[in-house]
Amino acid sequence: MDGNGRWAESRGLPRVKGHHQGVNAVRKVVKYCGDIGVERLTLFALSSENKGRPKEEVKWLLKLFLATLKLEVNKLNKANVCLEVIGDMSMFGKQLQEGVASAEKLLSSNTGLKLVIAANYGGKWDITQAVRKIAELNKSGGVRTSAIDESLIAQHLCLSGSPVDLLIRTSGEQRISNFLLWQLAYSELYFTDTFWPDFDERCLEEALQSFEGRARRFGR
Ligand code: IPE
Ligand code: MG
Repeated sequence: MDGNGRWAESRGLPRVKGHHQGVNAVRKVVKYCGDIGVERLTLFALSSENKGRPKEEVKWLLKLFLATLKLEVNKLNKANVCLEVIGDMSMFGKQLQEGVASAEKLLSSNTGLKLVIAANYGGKWDITQAVRKIAELNKSGGVRTSAIDESLIAQHLCLSGSPVDLLIRTSGEQRISNFLLWQLAYSELYFTDTFWPDFDERCLEEALQSFEGRARRFGR
């Protein structure tokens, strides 16, 4: 979800207004994905590197995240949405950690859209935490070195390393920016100039149509 800041700046507004408007786009996209039967939607809300932004902006983003979660959780529950937050939560305050845990718990048995929020997430962080877990297993004799294969690594990654079909990046940037690196190995990539706050059902439909036209060979 990129371009919130530029959306605001192009209107002479403070950047935080762009983030605020970005939440509306999230609402639209989550609802639409649920309606059309998308299995899983992963939103890159905050990257490991976003922490390097001005303190005030980061504080504001985390506050917005918690407030939105609290405001939307019942609606998400009614819509049968299941929630998982991925990323390094250790830097978050107690309030946010508890808010996330209780929202995840409330929505955990829902069977509709699986909504994943990546917060303080980085693809490199994901692989690193998997390597650490496997190293511990290896040390304790739980797994032999020769048994470490792609499937074992995947099991220790976020989302069980499961592949992403389509990556959409808004705002004209054409980079992965340390999003799900392993999981994106064979994803179709879609880039649009639209700033995230302007992204709506029609934009998503365009992306899905582009995806439908792709021939996926997975290297074969
Ligand atoms: C994306 O918008 C939102 C987050 C990273 C949280 P940006 O804040 O990156 O907006 P631009 O790229 O400055 O326009
Ligand atoms: Mg950006």
